[in-house]
Amino acid sequence: MTRFVLKGLACLGLVVSLGSGLATSASASGGGDEISRQHWTFGGLRGHFDRAQLQRGFQVYKEVCSTCHGMKRLSFRNLSEKGGPEFAEDGAKGLAETYKVSDGPNDQGKMFKRPGRLSDRIPSPFDNEQQARSANNGALPPDLSLMALARKVEVDHPFYTLPYHMIKDIVTGYQEGGPDYIYGVLMSYGENAPPYKDNGGHLAKMTEADAKANPAMPRCATVVSEPGQADVCNKMSEGMHYNEAFPGHQIAMPAPLRDGVVKYADGTPGTTENYARDVSAFQAWAADPKLEERKRLGLMAMLYLLGTTVLLYFAKRRIWSGVPH
Ligand code: HEC
Repeated sequence: MTRFVLKGLACLGLVVSLGSGLATSASASGGGDEISRQHWTFGGLRGHFDRAQLQRGFQVYKEVCSTCHGMKRLSFRNLSEKGGPEFAEDGAKGLAETYKVSDGPNDQGKMFKRPGRLSDRIPSPFDNEQQARSANNGALPPDLSLMALARKVEVDHPFYTLPYHMIKDIVTGYQEGGPDYIYGVLMSYGENAPPYKDNGGHLAKMTEADAKANPAMPRCATVVSEPGQADVCNKMSEGMHYNEAFPGHQIAMPAPLRDGVVKYADGTPGTTENYARDVSAFQAWAADPKLEERKRLGLMAMLYLLGTTVLLYFAKRRIWSGVPH
């Protein structure tokens, strides 16, 4: 019996260390300052999407973000498929028809535009990277189809608490770093970079009230401190916007959301926070459309394996019961 428990513990240790290895590699990429975690209906082991939220998220994407960002991996038909926003098929069809999609060549060898169909991908706002950059001060608005998987939140805990946080994330099934980050970026715009006071080479962060009293204070997006050297103030570049959550704190995207820019039909208040939350959830679905199915099957597989383990344990005891130790 003791040996069995020991072996069990060894297996558990192996699983936890493998899992925590994965969690570290995932959290090491992207992210700026600590970004707070949000509550998502699709979080956790039994997570599922909130259809109404996905529908609102698509509305925000369509009315605000799609002027600059494409979601080229998404087809109109996906919008009415199970597990997603589940718009009525007629609605998705009608929506597709409002877009002009290029097709061809026709009999004369020319490309032409026609109304969209359910099978078409959602057209991107720009034809190519050069056009996108020239409309955005040289910056490229990335495609948002997989953004929720491409970004993560950086962890900033003391190293000795990392195993605890990793195990907690594995047990609770935390995978929402991407939507947390997108929400963080959308909610972390500031009017201006914070003011700093120079104390003989050391830069100390000051408040806006201090800056009012002394307008000569430098404003720094980030401050680089090296031991034995004077601090370096990275000022904001021309045309950039201060953002706490974006790495480096300067982003080329102007704050896209303001209270009231989108009118929700379901009575949800039109606040920046709701827009940010809904559009982040929508991107989480777009990047992982099979999330619900995966979580449901995963949970069933775990329960099945657990049951089998118990049965195998008793079977093993019975088979070996006649053999003397
Ligand atoms: C006016 C054009 C414009 C609009 C509108 C816009 N964006 Fe952006 N977005 C950009 C540009 C340009 C960048 C690239 C920023 C950079 O690299 O500094 C960007 C970058 C991003 C990023 C990537 C940040 C990163 O980590 O690289 C995300 C996420 C994003 N936008 C989401 C959104 C969402 C969601 C909306 C709608 C609510 C939106 N954007 C609306 C222009 C826009």
